[in-house]
Amino acid sequence: MTAPESAPKSAPKSALGPPIGLLAELTHRCPLQCPYCSNPQELVRRGEELDTAAWIEVFRQARALGVLQLHLSGGEPGARSDLPALVGAARQLGLYSNLITAGVLLDEAALAALAARGLDHVQLSLQAAGAQTADSIGGFREGHARKLAFAAWVRAQGLPLTINVVLHRRNLDDLPALIDLALRLDAHRLELAHSQYYGWALRNRAALLPSRAQVERATALVERARRDLKDRLPIDYVTPDYYARRPKRCMDGWARRVIVVTPRGRALPCHAAETIPDLDFPNVRDSSLESIWRESEAFNRYRGTDWMREPCRSCEFRERDLGGCRCQAFALTGEAARADPVCDLSPDHAALQALAAEAAAADGPPYRYRRFA
Ligand code: SF4
Ligand code: FES
Repeated sequence: MTAPESAPKSAPKSALGPPIGLLAELTHRCPLQCPYCSNPQELVRRGEELDTAAWIEVFRQARALGVLQLHLSGGEPGARSDLPALVGAARQLGLYSNLITAGVLLDEAALAALAARGLDHVQLSLQAAGAQTADSIGGFREGHARKLAFAAWVRAQGLPLTINVVLHRRNLDDLPALIDLALRLDAHRLELAHSQYYGWALRNRAALLPSRAQVERATALVERARRDLKDRLPIDYVTPDYYARRPKRCMDGWARRVIVVTPRGRALPCHAAETIPDLDFPNVRDSSLESIWRESEAFNRYRGTDWMREPCRSCEFRERDLGGCRCQAFALTGEAARADPVCDLSPDHAALQALAAEAAAADGPPYRYRRFA
């Protein structure tokens, strides 16, 4: 029986903890064109980006709110000439700074300048283990060679290095070589995450989605590598949603741990939230981060469990997965408040399975690359 539905309520303020992370999307500019890019399809242009002072004010407010970790992301954050100033400000404010980069714009001197200003950690993306495949996925010639050089500079600076790889049909069978490469680059951690299908990846889903057999082979291989390398290379593995039976607790819950700020200053509860069209996202130019975190309708809409409909509302797992991913529910059903169709208790699950089987069986069409129009 379906329970009556009610309007979503705000989370009680007393129960609301501080965010621990700020994901600062400094720019959408990037020389790579990855077909699974998590940036929106409508990219923010340089003239609309927050300036240095505005970003530092965002960092200051984030720290005052309780944020400890600052993730400097993009696009490619190396496209911002004020990156050293931003890293220096983060250090002065006591924020742990993590640079999430494609590693193709910063040379050795630029990286040394960031290290000197107090950068704490580098997260470098790779597209594949070999140059030819990697450069064709990223749409950038000689990008892979530059990334390998950049990784060596990171380690030479004594900075901890995480390698991250978005997994999909074209690089899944590359996994053994990717793990070897991470070891050779002296990485501290390897993050392997299957592509999430919203934004650009949703557009390219038929070209990116692997088959179930390919995923099962890859998952077994990663599990073996995690056991074998547990003392040398921790491996994080984000499993693919489309072949799962239960959804993940996306972002550890909507507006629960992280604030995302886009290049033009919009504050989001998750990096893909702008794909949900009926949410009005506040801007850090107009509102304080604290009021956005505590009071904005967009942050409160899917916080906690009050917003849930059946089957989530009466489900024993609702606190565990918080109904899965709102952006994925919207992408697949047109309604963000439905259960994530990844869940086999969702009425939309069978349709998702059929869609996955059909997409994985098709010959992948060519990628549609993100580009500034
Ligand atoms: Fe999670 Fe909702 Fe599925 Fe229950 S019905 S497992 S709360 S997504
Ligand atoms: Fe937005 Fe999962 S990506 S809630």
